[in-house]
Amino acid sequence: MRILVTGVAGYIGSHTTVELQAAGHTVIGIDNFVNSSREILPRIEKISGVPVKFYEGDIRDEKLLDEIFVVEKIDAVIHFAALKAVAESFDCRDEYYAVNVEGTRTLCNVMERHNVTRLVYSSSAAVYGPAESDLLSETFALKPTNPYGETKIACEELLRERAEKNPVWSIVLLRYFNPVGAHASALIGEFPKSPANIAPIIMEVLRGVRPAITINGTDYSTPDGTCIRDYIHVVDLALAHLAALDWTAANTGVKLYNVGTGRGCSVKEIITAFEAASGRMIPAQYGPRRAGDVAVVVADPALINAELGWRAARSLKDIAESSVAWITKNPRGFEN
Ligand SMILES: NC(=O)c1ccc[n+]([C@@H]2O[C@H](COP(=O)([O-])OP(=O)(O)OC[C@H]3O[C@@H](n4cnc5c(N)ncnc54)[C@H](O)[C@@H]3O)[C@@H](O)[C@H]2O)c1
Repeated sequence: MRILVTGVAGYIGSHTTVELQAAGHTVIGIDNFVNSSREILPRIEKISGVPVKFYEGDIRDEKLLDEIFVVEKIDAVIHFAALKAVAESFDCRDEYYAVNVEGTRTLCNVMERHNVTRLVYSSSAAVYGPAESDLLSETFALKPTNPYGETKIACEELLRERAEKNPVWSIVLLRYFNPVGAHASALIGEFPKSPANIAPIIMEVLRGVRPAITINGTDYSTPDGTCIRDYIHVVDLALAHLAALDWTAANTGVKLYNVGTGRGCSVKEIITAFEAASGRMIPAQYGPRRAGDVAVVVADPALINAELGWRAARSLKDIAESSVAWITKNPRGFEN
């Protein structure tokens, strides 16, 4: 198939592109590099041996999207392009709505105009309200604690409305938990412009850019007192998109799935895994709890396991080892 991947140069978009190409699909990508590097494109080609047909631009540029659909004969779309920094979303709420929600609306309008109605959408566990211990299933209450999570709910609703109005649509909404890790080639991985999540922060410590990691809160009701999250290897997450695409080939309507491992890992455990993978001590200091953090956020992935036959296969050790290999070979990210 010919798949349009929005946000192709991003962390998850690039890893998914590699898996799509390995499965024999042709990837047509769009990105404006607001949070990525153009240097990733030759690296994708180095891994797969296949170039990405690439368009530089904004997903809100209706004219450009029209041109892509006319020229490229797209069969389906995987829509990653969005702004995703939770803290920033408080300061830049309008921009988050403009890119994430209006961008998705523009994309849908153009898709409909060109009779392309198969879509896999990147949603997030950020849509859920606070939970203290149970596994989160898809029916758990929606109560985002930040504007970023609100935009993801708005997009899910927008897409459901489309499918209600026009039953030809076939849409899979994937709510990712915490994507981490890197491709086994160590040619692509996560290298955010402003690291805000645990794995990129640990990698900054390993690169010597940051002296220590701050563990926010050690008095949570968890076995070691630190927060527990569901860390999913980015290659497992990429493969979930291929399973979702298969669903859209044979069905119409909207499906919603959590994408996680179902296993929780504490902050201390992830630091220990990175220490084992790197053979180095990662200095840690203790800080206060962060506003809005809850003790445990772990996916119940039973639905996607059963209905799409997808299951996370990679371990915490795989996550740590692939991340360490990536950052060791690319201490300056894609600029090497
Ligand atoms: N990484 C996570 O922790 C996580 C968790 C849950 C959901 N998600 C969602 O997954 C998707 C991909 O996330 P990621 O981690 O790969 O993020 P990323 O920032 O690495 O990738 C997003 C890509 O989209 C591009 N982009 C942003 N706005 C654009 C626009 N207006 N036009 C064209 N391109 C644009 C960026 O330049 C970037 O290359 C996002 O929708 C994000 O909200 C991510």
